[in-house]
Order: sequence, then structure tokens, then C-alpha cells
Amino acid sequence: MGLARLLLVGFVLLVLGSRALVRGNAELEALMEIKASLDPENKVLTSWTGNGDPCGGSFDGVACNEHQKVANISLQGKGLSGKVPPAMAQLKCLSGLYLHYNYLTGEIPREISRLTELTDLYLDVNNLTGSIPSEIGSMASLQVLQLCYNQLNGTIPPQIGSLKKLSVLALQHNKLSGDIHGLANLQTLKRLVLGFNGFNGTFPVEIAKIPELQTLDVQNNSLSGFVPAALKKLERFNYQNNPGLCGSGFPSLRNCNNFDPNLHPNGVNPIVLIPRTPDVKTHCNQSHCSNPSKLPQAALVAGIVSVTVTLVGAGLLTFYRYRRGKQKIGSTADASDGRLSTDQSKDLYSRSASPLVCLEYSSGWDPLDDGRCGNGLSLQAPRYTLEEVESATQYFSEVNLLGRSTFLSVYKGILRDGTLVAIRSINVTSCKSEEVDFVNGLNLVTSLRHENLIRLRGVCCSKGRGECFLVYDFAPKGTLSQYLDLEDRSIQVLDWSTRVSIIKGIAEGIGYLHNGEGSKPAVVHQNISAEKILIDQQLNPLIMDSGLPKLLADDVIYSALKTSAAMGYMAPEYITTGRFTEKSDVFAYGVIIFQILSGKRLLSSSMRSAAECCSSENFIDSNLKGNFTEPEAAILGKIALRCTSELPDNRPTIFRVIEELNDWCVKCR
Ligand SMILES: *[C@@H]1O[C@H](CO)[C@@H](O)[C@H](O)[C@H]1NC(C)=O
Ligand SMILES: *[C@@H]1O[C@H](CO)[C@@H](O)[C@H](O)[C@H]1NC(C)=O
Ligand SMILES: *[C@@H]1O[C@H](CO)[C@@H](O)[C@H](O)[C@H]1NC(C)=O
Ligand SMILES: *[C@@H]1O[C@H](CO)[C@@H](O)[C@H](O)[C@H]1NC(C)=O
Ligand SMILES: *[C@@H]1O[C@H](CO)[C@@H](O)[C@H](O)[C@H]1NC(C)=O
Ligand SMILES: *[C@@H]1O[C@H](CO)[C@@H](O)[C@H](O)[C@H]1NC(C)=O
Repeated sequence: MGLARLLLVGFVLLVLGSRALVRGNAELEALMEIKASLDPENKVLTSWTGNGDPCGGSFDGVACNEHQKVANISLQGKGLSGKVPPAMAQLKCLSGLYLHYNYLTGEIPREISRLTELTDLYLDVNNLTGSIPSEIGSMASLQVLQLCYNQLNGTIPPQIGSLKKLSVLALQHNKLSGDIHGLANLQTLKRLVLGFNGFNGTFPVEIAKIPELQTLDVQNNSLSGFVPAALKKLERFNYQNNPGLCGSGFPSLRNCNNFDPNLHPNGVNPIVLIPRTPDVKTHCNQSHCSNPSKLPQAALVAGIVSVTVTLVGAGLLTFYRYRRGKQKIGSTADASDGRLSTDQSKDLYSRSASPLVCLEYSSGWDPLDDGRCGNGLSLQAPRYTLEEVESATQYFSEVNLLGRSTFLSVYKGILRDGTLVAIRSINVTSCKSEEVDFVNGLNLVTSLRHENLIRLRGVCCSKGRGECFLVYDFAPKGTLSQYLDLEDRSIQVLDWSTRVSIIKGIAEGIGYLHNGEGSKPAVVHQNISAEKILIDQQLNPLIMDSGLPKLLADDVIYSALKTSAAMGYMAPEYITTGRFTEKSDVFAYGVIIFQILSGKRLLSSSMRSAAECCSSENFIDSNLKGNFTEPEAAILGKIALRCTSELPDNRPTIFRVIEELNDWCVKCR
């Protein structure tokens, strides 16, 4: 009895105690403060709640270490529109802070420098202003500092030069100016990207002595002086658009003359010596944090590379297969492609193993890159760089995701000039495995042009991401399927004449595809459905995914067909012949006519019989409230019936349908 009471009291105390512990959780309080600052309207971080457990897995983007301390915050591309809060500094064990691709404004708080465990700081592609706080120089663990694509101004604080572990520094596309000599002290740098700023002063020749530097980008600045020839050994060195630079052996640099600075080192730009910052005592050394693993670099790299290879092996293999057949051109290019730099492998690893997505602006890889693709094929559509695609979609932010299937995702995007686009990403493992087939397919897809096909603006293929992107015009009014089965009163009911013109427009688009005259081959769409018809601002129909089967691997195409069969678009003969023909497209078109007339996605046999015996009122959408033209409805019903005939021979060609629609419209208008 006594013991039981004691146990009970003990239990109650335990419960109370643990609640007090939660209530007093400093990190939770800090997180709530951080949330209020990053997401002032509480639209994104709704999962962060004051009575929740940050380490319980329910806080979006928060990862904890084994001591239940917040170790990573990954909120890239979430549409955050607030500010980076000083309270961030209270998460003492934070090792990764990923806030890139948001709309954050304000300055980088200097308190952030108290995060002495932080290895990765990604604040790039935001709208941050002010200057880079000099205190960042005391973040002893920092390895990756990404601040590019912001509005930062001022100069690079010399203290940055004391970051002893920094391997990536990306500051491009800001408004920074001044001298960059202090950066030559960063002996661990692998990538240094400073392009598109206002850096002036002389080029720091000492940079050539950084042992493992692979990438140096200083393009579009105002640097002057002498560029050492030793920099030719870099994997990538972008120096163009600096009118004052000179050097020998670089294609677009003039030779130096006597008046160039740097050739007169007397007094000009001595190497800035930076006092070593005292080692900041780490807050996380006791029971709280495990030190970030300090495996020997080589072992780490090997591990990462092997994980990478396993995880993305399939994708890379496909790419290597693409690469075959063009080895006669540039064997050096092939060699460098086969090797993963530490940096790239880290990126790939991160992508596969954690929610973290890293930037790899430089590794945009294009199987059609001029001079590499030896087939002499040229694309009709322009090519986008990975950087443009990433920036348009805010690094494939979920807020921009329009739709996703097993092999395709579609994102909304905004190009730098403000144009709205829809970007389809196709995983390269879904593509045809032979390069020739793939490139031919891409050429076909990019050559298709018609006012009733969605316009392809350009393409981009990235080895780093293992994806190809098709950049299309954006259709603001969604897909035809959104106008079917209307229950949501916010979506407009299409009026009769609009329905007729949509039916006509789709026929014109299919007619263009099926027409094999001229240089264009006849193309069977294979997957026409209400989901594949987009509606533009003027309510014209635009067919999408035309020619896509020429790009995709066969098994991918078949798996996509299951949906179209379930929705009733698949011609009956497909089951026996297994082949798509123009007549199977006509069948699907007939189904769409019925859908447009009835306003319903799924068709019933009573609809067919109503169309057969001309009782239009029994199959026309009741949302029209009788506002339609009976004879027109009867004619369209008849066309739909013939298009969906059981036997392909009984179906009209699309050209015949177009003729009938045109004849009739001459008569009826
Ligand atoms: C934090 O992110 C890094 C980089 O992706 C990862 O290696 C590490 O395991 C993450 N830590 C936790 C606790 O999730
Ligand atoms: C960034 O801020 C400027 C004003 O400071 C504003 O004009 C611009 O639209 C902002 N850009 C974004 C992407 O929010
Ligand atoms: C940086 O920009 C801010 C406005 O965002 C301005 O107030 C400040 O003077 C600028 N600083 C420098 C060094 O140009
Ligand atoms: C660099 O630009 C700043 C401001 O734009 C100016 O004050 C400075 O004199 C320039 N330095 C050189 C070496 O031209
Ligand atoms: C880069 O510099 C070139 C030459 O000065 C200029 O034409 C181009 O517009 C610049 N690009 C950007 C993005 O500023
Ligand atoms: C950990 O911190 C304590 C003080 O909190 C200090 O005395 C000790 O030397 C530190 N240990 C390490 C390994 O840094």
C-alpha cells in the first residue's frame, strides 16, 4: 500500500517534471520566435506549435541530433517572406541552416555568428539587404557560405578571411563592391563565386596558390590587373566582363602592358593579414552535441561517393550511356565528367539522403551542349540553364508544384523577365536510354508549333540533378478537367460557344499532329485526355505533352496508360493490338467531346443513347441551364459518337472531323 502510493507520487512528480521540462525548453521558445520572424503570417510553419515537440518529427524542416537538440533547419523554397531572426543564435547546436529560395528580406543578423557549430549556411536567392556582418568571420566551423542572389551591398569584411574550413563561398549576383584580396587567405576553398557584383580593385594573384581551388568565377565585376597563368589549371574560371583585367594565354584577355596595376606591386594591395580569431569556446561540447564527425577527409569523400553512386547510379548510368558515341570529341571533357568533385558529390549525397537541397549552379550539364553532342543535331527551341530553371521555380519549391506523377513533375515558374512558365521535369531514368533516340525525340518535341499546342519555350538537361526540364508557356486557366464535374461554384461554367470553340481547337491541334506533310512526321499523341488540354486566358484549348512518348522509355509510357484506360480514353482495339494509331487519338477526342458537352468526366451509356436518338437535353450539361443550340448539340453528339466507334475503321479521321466542323460553322454562323 505504502509502496504503491510512493510509486504513484513518484509517477506524478515525474510527469509534472517532464512537463515543466518541455515548458522550459529554451529551444522550443527560440523556434517559436524564429517562426514568428521567418513566417510572420503563419502560412508556412503551421506545424511548429508552442506545445509541440521540435524533435518529435512533426516540425516541418527541423532535424535534431541524438541529444534532442536542433541540428538542421531546412526550409528552402517554402515561400517564407519574413526576416532572418537574431533568435537563430539560440539554437546552439545548429549545424545546417538552409533558408535559400525564399523571399526573406532585411539584414543578416550579426548574432548568427554565435552559431559556432554551423557548417552550412544557405541564405541565397532571397531579398536580403545590408552588408555581410564581419562577425561571420568567427564562425569557426563554417564550410559552405551561400549568400548569392540577394541585394547585399558594402564590401567583403576582411574577417571572412579567417574562416579556416570554408570550402564554398558563393556571393554572385549581389551589389557587393570593394577589394577581394582578403579571400586569398581562404586556403581550404574549392569554389569561389563572386560574379555579377561591383568588385573593383586589383585581381588577387595569390588566389592562384589556393591548393584545392576548382572553380573561380569573377565575371561581370570591375576588377583590374594581372591574371596569373596558373589559373588555367582550374576546372572552371570565369573572368569575362572585367574591362581592367589582362593576362596571357586566356582567350578573351588582352595582354598586360606597363600601366596595369599588379605589375607594380610596390604599395599596391599587399596581402591583407588578418588576425586569427581566438578559438571560440564551443557551447556544445558536453553531453549536448556530438562533434560533427571528424572522419579523415578521404574516407568521408569515399563514403559519400559510394553512397552517391548507389543512390543515383541508375541515373548516372543512363547519362554515361548518352555520353557514349561522342567520345571522339573532347576526351578531356569525358574524363572530368566521370569524376565527382568533393563538392558535387556532397551535393548529390545531400539531395538523396536528406531534405537538404544544395545549389550546384556550375554543374548544369546539357547532353546537347554544342561541341559535345557529335550528331550535328540542333534544337529548335532555346536552351535554358539549370540556374534559370532553379531560380524560376525557386529551387523547385513545393509552393510552385502544380502536379506530380511517378515520372513527371510540373512546376510553376517565373523567368527573370517576369514571364510565367510551367516547367515539366522528367527524371532521366524515365527517358529513352539511347542518346540518339532521346535527342531525336527532343528535337521532335521542340519542333512542334501550333496555336492549339502549348508552346515549348526551351529545354534544359542537368546531369547534376539527373533531370531534363521542358519549359512551357503557362496556361493561367488550368486544364479542361477542372471545368468538368463542377461542384465548386468558384470555377466558371463554360458557355456554349466557348465549348464549341474548344472542341474545334482541340481538333485543329490534333490535326496538326497527325499531319505528316512537309518536314514534320505524323505524330500520334497517345495520351489525349481532359487533363492534357490546357486553357489559356482567351479560353483557347492548348494540347500538352505532344511528342512526349518519343522522349520517354516505353515502360514509363505504359505505366501512364493505366490512368488513361481507367478514365475511358483508351481505344478498345489497343487491348488487342497494343498499338497507338491516329484512330486511337480520335477515340480519345470523341470522349472529350462528350465530356465537354455533358460537363462530366465519366460517361454513361445513357449519354451515348441520348446522343444517338438526338435527345440532346438528356446529355447536355445542366449547368448551361438550357443555353445551347439544339442543332449544334445534335451534330457534335453525332461526331462524338462516330469518333468513339468500337471499330477504328468506323471512326472518321481528324481531318474529316475538322472539315465537318468547318462546313457546319460556315452554315450555322
Ligand atoms: C543535418 O544535415 C546534414 C547535411 O545534410 C546531414 O549530414 C546531417 O545528418 C543532418 N543532421 C541531422 C541530425 O539530421
Ligand atoms: C526585393 O526587394 C525589392 C525592394 O527592396 C523589391 O522591389 C523586389 O520586388 C523584391 N524582390 C522579391 C523577389 O521579392
Ligand atoms: C546598402 O544599402 C542600404 C539600403 O538597403 C543603404 O542604406 C546603405 O547605405 C548601403 N550601404 C552601402 C555601403 O552602400
Ligand atoms: C571601388 O569602389 C568604391 C565605391 O564604389 C570606391 O570608393 C573605391 O575607390 C573603388 N576602389 C578602386 C580601387 O577603384
Ligand atoms: C555582364 O557584362 C556584360 C558586358 O559588360 C553585359 O553586357 C551584361 O549585361 C552583364 N550581365 C549582367 C547580368 O549584368
Ligand atoms: C567543454 O566545456 C567545458 C566548459 O563548459 C570545458 O571545461 C572543457 O574543456 C570543454 N571540453 C572540450 C573538449 O572542449
